[in-house]
Amino acid sequence: MKATAKAHTNIALIKYWGKRDDSLILPMNNSLSLTLDGFYTTTTVAFREELSQDTFFLNEQAVTGSQYQRVAAFLDHIRNETAVTNLNAEVHSINHVPTAAGFASSASGFAALAAAAIKALDVPMSDEDLSRITRQGSGSACRSIHGGFVEWVKGTKTDGSDSYAVQVQAADQWDVRVAAVVLTETAKKISSRERMKRTVATSPFYPGWMDSIPHDLEQIKDGIEHHDFEKVGSIAEANCLKMHATMLGAAPPVMYWNDATVRVMREVQAMRERGVPVFFTIDAGPNVKVLYLPDDEAIVEKALHQIPGVQDVTLSRPGQGITYL
Ligand code: PMV
Repeated sequence: MKATAKAHTNIALIKYWGKRDDSLILPMNNSLSLTLDGFYTTTTVAFREELSQDTFFLNEQAVTGSQYQRVAAFLDHIRNETAVTNLNAEVHSINHVPTAAGFASSASGFAALAAAAIKALDVPMSDEDLSRITRQGSGSACRSIHGGFVEWVKGTKTDGSDSYAVQVQAADQWDVRVAAVVLTETAKKISSRERMKRTVATSPFYPGWMDSIPHDLEQIKDGIEHHDFEKVGSIAEANCLKMHATMLGAAPPVMYWNDATVRVMREVQAMRERGVPVFFTIDAGPNVKVLYLPDDEAIVEKALHQIPGVQDVTLSRPGQGITYL
């Protein structure tokens, strides 16, 4: 009853921001992401007789407190859903997601944990069901089950059974690159949960954000299908700006950017004016991710490094879905 799985993180091009059910983690809208090869988590889960409770080691350090509680609660969820065992588990995760890169490691972390646990229990499961289970560890993690471009379908059922991620296009179909721009002055990642809730409850722009999603989704999927980078990039950038505008409308406002964030955004727009097709997106933190095509890699990397306040730039290709080691 032991297995190891590897999952990559993902970056949303059409964002998820707001839940229709907090405990089941059901989103208000469909979202769409690209899985990235540069950042991943490998997790080994072993269910064992002699354990009196679950144990969780992250990068070989025992984890306690709220991070441990979240993992133990998720293992309970998996034990309930599969009804195979009541045994406790020993979990070892290695994160290849530099915390400074501004990616939440929760996406790759919960995807790898779910996949390894299900495999260890030897329960045959479709990717849809694996994604549905993963969703209850962390929403965005349900997209990391698949490689390439992925859509998390929000579903309409109250029990969440139709809310899971599906692949839109495999990783090897189109080589779109993402530069993760690490800024020197970064805030510690604060849980997005409370801020999401506050945005839904108080931002007068939330209904407008919701209304704009179906069109963005339809257009970006058309762009992906036809490998139209300008279309995909411009929709992703505009969708990100709309999400942040909606957050700014919350009371009190939710603002993630710092000065360097804005400098990177402006440099991306300036590169475009110089004829380089390049676009940005930003999640719940100050760091920026920049979308570009392979031919422009050298120019983009150099330009990003020259911006004051940029500490590091990590480049990624499209990544695969879950693999077992
Ligand atoms: O799944 P969470 O709670 O980490 O929320 C992710 C929210 C965003 O990263 C801002 C958008 C997204 O769709 O990933």
